[in-house]
Amino acid sequence: MSEPSHEPVMVAETLELLAPARGGLFVDCTVGLGGHARALLEAGATRILGLDRDPDALKLAASALAEFGDRVELVHADYRDLPQVLDQRGLTGVDGALADLGVSSMQLEAEGRGFSFRRDDPLDMRMDRSQGETAADWLAAIDEESLADVIFQYGEERYSRRIARAIVSSRNLTPIRTTAALARSCAAQARGAAISASTRRREPSRRCEFGPTGNSNGSIASSPRPRSGCWAGHAWR
Ligand SMILES: C[S@@+](CC[C@H](N)C(=O)[O-])C[C@H]1O[C@@H](n2cnc3c(N)ncnc32)[C@H](O)[C@@H]1O
Repeated sequence: MSEPSHEPVMVAETLELLAPARGGLFVDCTVGLGGHARALLEAGATRILGLDRDPDALKLAASALAEFGDRVELVHADYRDLPQVLDQRGLTGVDGALADLGVSSMQLEAEGRGFSFRRDDPLDMRMDRSQGETAADWLAAIDEESLADVIFQYGEERYSRRIARAIVSSRNLTPIRTTAALARSCAAQARGAAISASTRRREPSRRCEFGPTGNSNGSIASSPRPRSGCWAGHAWR
């Protein structure tokens, strides 16, 4: 079976901004499956330091970038810890940095991660499964008002209070431990609420997906907004 691959976004813009043809050390703060890292290396970057919180992504990146040998160093780290990662290597600056924020297609499609409502999986949703609480545990403990705030802020969902109420009522009957159970609890509010037909037509679970996804593993705290998209920046020294 072929390994999952990720089609990197905004490659031309990234290369234009970072200008890797001049050589140097570039940091990919979210190396994922290595798509951007490969593009930078092929365009002339001397070395890449690739960070990711997800050990599964790092394994795939290692295999995808193997041909570049010691031009690539992969590190299991949160990009919030980049200053320490650089310090540990005696680096006082880099020639450019990139962060491609969000969830990779591999994470969405992988069985057992709980990032997608397309399949019934345990409600995990952690980028880094070696630490932190699962979305199921987080959802079991959070109070209704805070849940509504998270769904509103990070899911940008105007019916966040209703959805939070529906989730809490559902959780009071049976613990929500799977993606299907969470989808059902959100669907219940869509049936009951007097909301517009167009809003109702959207898959209700999608509307509360990003709250818990963003919150698991402290991903919200580590993601500068916007939570999906790409930024690239030049050297800091
Ligand atoms: C959209 S994917 C990146 C894809 C990558 N640019 C490529 O071309 O294959 C986003 C990646 O960011 C990682 N990630 C999310 N939050 C992170 C964080 N706080 N620190 C480091 N990596 C993080 C995820 O595990 C995921 O692999």
